Amino acid sequence: MTKADELQTVAVLVPGHFNDHAVERIDRTFKRVRIERADPALVTDEMRRDVRAIASFAGIDAAMMDALPNLELIASFGVGYDSVDAGHAARKNIMVTNTPDVLTEEVADTTIGLLINTVRELYAAEKYLRDGDWVKNGNYRLSRLTLRGRRVGIFGMGRIGLAVARRLEVFGLPVAYHNRRKVDGLAYEYHSTLKSLAEAVDTLVCIAPGGAATEKAINAEILSALGSNGVFVNIGRGSTVDEAALAAALESGTIAAAGLDVFADEPNVPQALLGAPNTSLLPHVGSASEHTRRAMADLCVDNLVSWFTERRPLTPVPETVNVKARG
Ligand code: NAP
Ligand code: 8YV
Repeated sequence: MTKADELQTVAVLVPGHFNDHAVERIDRTFKRVRIERADPALVTDEMRRDVRAIASFAGIDAAMMDALPNLELIASFGVGYDSVDAGHAARKNIMVTNTPDVLTEEVADTTIGLLINTVRELYAAEKYLRDGDWVKNGNYRLSRLTLRGRRVGIFGMGRIGLAVARRLEVFGLPVAYHNRRKVDGLAYEYHSTLKSLAEAVDTLVCIAPGGAATEKAINAEILSALGSNGVFVNIGRGSTVDEAALAAALESGTIAAAGLDVFADEPNVPQALLGAPNTSLLPHVGSASEHTRRAMADLCVDNLVSWFTERRPLTPVPETVNVKARG
């Protein structure tokens, strides 16, 4: 049997809707097994016996892993993998991969777009033109806020945070950041707490991962520290924000404006945020260009190919770096 023939026998479970290019490559290389969603109740005996990998947009929890005794690899689509229980995977000797780097510049571009859109009210100005108000009522009003003179804090100075910071430098804005650890050799001002960062800046960009460690980290106290000229932009994960506190802070003028690409319960956006003043809201489009999603799809599938040919992953998540291929 050739290596290609062998790969054709490897069953890869793909829950729900998946990226078209990734599906096409999986179909060409492996035996794709469909399932409506990643739900252990839908796992058949055949799946239990055959499935060796999952390729997924969706979260994979411990129960789903436990339902598939021959599972070796979860190839998660996206850099953020907070919806995959990677700790459980590591304990069960299951490798988890994600898709870092290939989306960094795209997401950084989107972050800058969202920041400018929020501060200069471009969403409202465009609506004004399209509604015919320019003709009827004259020029759109001057924006209350500007990027000029702002000081930006980045919560999550990782790959994407750094790409955002580099762009902001060109815009002439000073940058500071908060991570759990100071980044060696990075000249931006470091804050060991999020509160201290929020106090030091008037513009806070969140590009930290989701998960228990960051759950509702952006709360009433942090928003109050940001202050009444404050602008908050979230391109990381919605779970990182106390959305009720954010809506209240926008309503009361505790902060001035917010730009959000991610929400705690996507695709549902709380009415309190939809109705809040001074917001630019996007439907999780940080990496959503055909170009970048194709690159993410290729990396997702390349991880599957590498695992089942070379017995090693290309981009393992930190929790599973020590997982070894079976057999
Ligand atoms: P990364 O390189 O791993 O960077 C994450 C940064 O966050 C690291 O610098 C890390 O530093 C910091 N961090 C992690 N946990 C923290 C905590 N509890 N408190 C403070 N800082 C913490 O990841 P990336 O490639 O830049 O991606 C970042 C995140 O962006 C992803 O996880 C994903 O959720 C989100 N994302 C969103 C979109 C979108 O479409 N909106 C697209 C891509 C990615 P320390 O480890 O030192 O704390
Ligand atoms: C994708 C993302 O929208 O990479 C991430 O962490 O949030 C986005 O790039 C998402 O992963 C698609 O499933």
